Amino acid sequence: MTGRAPVPVVTLDGPSGSGKGTVGQVLAQRLGWHFLDSGALYRSLGVAAVKAGADFSDRPAIVKLALGMDVRFVPRGVADTIGVRLNGEDIGEAMRTEEGGRHASLVAAIPEVRQALLQKQHSFRQPPGLVADGRDMGSTVFPDAILKIYLTASPEVRAARRYKQLIEKGFDANLRQLLDEIRERDARDAGREVSPLKPAEDACILDTSQLDISGVVERVYGLLQERQRPG
Ligand code: DC
Repeated sequence: MTGRAPVPVVTLDGPSGSGKGTVGQVLAQRLGWHFLDSGALYRSLGVAAVKAGADFSDRPAIVKLALGMDVRFVPRGVADTIGVRLNGEDIGEAMRTEEGGRHASLVAAIPEVRQALLQKQHSFRQPPGLVADGRDMGSTVFPDAILKIYLTASPEVRAARRYKQLIEKGFDANLRQLLDEIRERDARDAGREVSPLKPAEDACILDTSQLDISGVVERVYGLLQERQRPG
């Protein structure tokens, strides 16, 4: 090791619908830092499993797919979802569906999968800095992050946000069903053995139920400036 300071990382963890994806992208853009959407890796693996006709309960097959898949992120505009290529194919739309989220949550519960995707996640840590969004960014993947944020919001608020997103995109949506799916996914993500969804011990917890995106970005940006102030 040289004496050089490590590349700074801000971690944004929390359940789906807490706003962390959009907040993360806007913050990364503002800072001129890289952005990691770690959920997109798990979602890509879910798509890879469907394409391969793999059974989600066949853990060795899923792990093999995780080790072999070539996932690349293609940045788009600010606050837009990032484009994703799986083995050269654009899967950006396919993986953002509710089913894509459920499949991601299933593969994410396999410890060997989490291990297999660790190095890929670390490779995003490039100068001048990284904003990393997920469930275990602060607790497991980047434990030495300069600032760890845990964003949360009530399941009702998160379901309503998702409902609005889907309707705006012209999809059919059922609020009650979305709320049930969110609760089910939260329970699985929080209940799994490895890297369960929970705030890192040293995380700042922000409830976004009453805040809009720019309000959250301001709060996080302010906290980062405090952390980076010398002395
Ligand atoms: O953030 P997202 O909704 O795109 O994540 C999809 C699923 O992937 C989510 O249900 C849990 C899982 N996930 C995870 O276990 N660890 C991460 N760091 C990111 C996502």
